[in-house]
Amino acid sequence: MTASCGAEQPLHLQVNGQACSLASVPREASLLQFLRNDLGLNGPKYGCGLGQCGACTVHVDGVAARSCVIPAHGVAGRDVITLEGLGSRGRWHPVQAAFEDAQAAQCGYCLNGMVMQAAALLARDPHANEARIRSELSGNLCRCGTHIEILDAVQRAAVRMSASHEDKAA
Ligand code: FES
Ligand code: FES
Repeated sequence: MTASCGAEQPLHLQVNGQACSLASVPREASLLQFLRNDLGLNGPKYGCGLGQCGACTVHVDGVAARSCVIPAHGVAGRDVITLEGLGSRGRWHPVQAAFEDAQAAQCGYCLNGMVMQAAALLARDPHANEARIRSELSGNLCRCGTHIEILDAVQRAAVRMSASHEDKAA
């Protein structure tokens, strides 16, 4: 993966499983700007730009993180996964498949954050109950009010992922 943007510092990291080296990335660029503008990864969305809505969520070393407030250079050498790397048509991540099954979207702008936050939760706790899911997603805002459908989708994904987890453990 290569790109150029005519600024000062080189940057090396892993994005969606691929080594990514750029010759020059502005010191002040956020991870969100870097992903969207330099790599063309438009799954993460710009909502508030203040770390308060969750629309820009990605995974950094498996942990959900708000890419609008993380400097791109702050993740040098680390492993970043965006919505594009989580799954794709024909091989959806269970959380993405559950959102599709539950029709959990209106405008869809918040969905990147909801899906990435939920996927990180269920990766570390596939048995997460409703209260745990509500707590985890409480900082992700949906201006369309699709919260009930989103909760339904994540609970569906939890059922599937916990069953799969138990099959592997058997
Ligand atoms: S755009 Fe990053 S938290 Fe709102
Ligand atoms: S579906 Fe529109 S912001 Fe959530």
